Amino acid sequence: MKKLIVFNWKMSPRGAKEAQKILSVLKVKNHQTKADIVVCPPFVYLPISSSFIVNRPSLKLGSQDVFWENPPAGGGAFTGEISPKMLKNLGVKYVIIGHSERREHLKETDEMINKKIKAALKAGLKVILCVGENLIIRKKGIGAVKNFIKNQLEKDLQKVKSPLIIAYEPIWAIGTGNYCRPKEAIEIIKFIKSIIHNSKILYGGSVNGKNISDYLNEKEIDGVLVGGASVKINELKRILNEK
Ligand code: PGA
Repeated sequence: MKKLIVFNWKMSPRGAKEAQKILSVLKVKNHQTKADIVVCPPFVYLPISSSFIVNRPSLKLGSQDVFWENPPAGGGAFTGEISPKMLKNLGVKYVIIGHSERREHLKETDEMINKKIKAALKAGLKVILCVGENLIIRKKGIGAVKNFIKNQLEKDLQKVKSPLIIAYEPIWAIGTGNYCRPKEAIEIIKFIKSIIHNSKILYGGSVNGKNISDYLNEKEIDGVLVGGASVKINELKRILNEK
């Protein structure tokens, strides 16, 4: 199975010029790519990113979030939100849903995440659902981690039958440099695969140019989700060379 690398730009960069710079790095390496790459810029950079990826078959566009309603004729009264169809119309193919930063800072609940997943799938978008435990749970042991993830999956995927992509992202490993060793990640990834069939399972959390191949070389890990390192030009170049 071809591996998948998802670049989550989070709330970066500060301007369109910098966004173009990051995209241009992806252009240089595109012809060498063995993995599929999904770029998830903030909403405001989706249009320029969309024009950039045209005619680059191994590059796909993703968004970092989506709302669960589509506007009726005349417009939808959901200030600030972006609908699945709006994304589709821009050439977006993937959407990250349930990132732990949104669960924490925006108080996104499993119920909201479930609605978003259903709406996105209905619109034909590929969903990348993020799950993962915090440090308190991790310290309780692997049994507690598995219970937590199982619970998240049950709630987030209620009445969802279509296959999707799941990113195992332990919260303690995100943006900390304290990445989860491949062996530990594989234990949870195998557990997720025992519950959810026909889905790609990625690892995310402090993946960088130095450690990316440790994950991609493991057959149980179907790909990686890269945050911070995906907007640092030097790291990005290294990532694209390593895989
Ligand atoms: P990170 O973020 O690579 O900066 O740890 C991963 C993510 O987007 O969750």
